[in-house]
Amino acid sequence: MKIIIVGAGGAVGKPAFDELSRRHEVIAVGRSSGDIQADIEDVESIRAMYAATGQVDAVVSAVGHGHFGPVEGMTGELFMKGINHKLLPQVNLVLEGIAYMRDGGSFTLTSGVLNRDPIRGGASAAAANGALDGFVLGAAVDMPRGIRINSVSPEVLEVSRERYDGFFRGHYHVSNEAVALAYSKAVEGCQTGQVYTVDFG
Ligand SMILES: NC(=O)c1ccc[n+]([C@@H]2O[C@H](COP(=O)([O-])OP(=O)(O)OC[C@H]3O[C@@H](n4cnc5c(N)ncnc54)[C@H](OP(=O)(O)O)[C@@H]3O)[C@@H](O)[C@H]2O)c1
Repeated sequence: MKIIIVGAGGAVGKPAFDELSRRHEVIAVGRSSGDIQADIEDVESIRAMYAATGQVDAVVSAVGHGHFGPVEGMTGELFMKGINHKLLPQVNLVLEGIAYMRDGGSFTLTSGVLNRDPIRGGASAAAANGALDGFVLGAAVDMPRGIRINSVSPEVLEVSRERYDGFFRGHYHVSNEAVALAYSKAVEGCQTGQVYTVDFG
């Protein structure tokens, strides 16, 4: 398969890249890293990326960030960070990518644990995650030509323990291997409209 992984150099994207590149032709994409540079917050940049890759069998997205802070004092503008930096770029990657997706191909988006096991200050990110998982469920029944769409929703990764130190008390930290398996199932499996949670392993 020919697979695009946006965010292939990141904490979540790297396990997906390492697993899938063993068996497939993988094109790594980042804003400054990877085989192709693209910023998926910019629709024109997404279009240029697909024009460069041509037709593909799978697209994986492992990017995004949101606002962290208490709801008291949060403004609509701060809330929208999760929408503008995590939800919308990944949705646009799908909308712009359908024309480049081969029959029976797949999209895999990345949400996260916060809409099922919240932490303080995580409301904006939780909303983006819930919207991503909802989009996948809704879009799956609309996809043409047998194209599948799923999301991977990981707990905090072991490799990200230091970055989020103190924010996720009591949460399990998952291994790269467990995360890689979820992306493998999403890309190389047969299901659609699924949210693959990675809470342990
Ligand atoms: N880390 C965790 O424990 C964890 C757990 C659950 C969910 N998640 C979710 O997983 C996603 C990725 O998180 P991460 O921790 O892997 O982030 P990360 O380590 O900061 O990596 C992000 C990657 O995405 C690329 N990237 C970022 N913004 C981009 C954009 N607008 N267009 C194209 N490429 C872009 C970066 O490449 P460049 O630097 O070259 O731009 C980098 O390779 C996020 O949505 C996050 O909420 C993470």
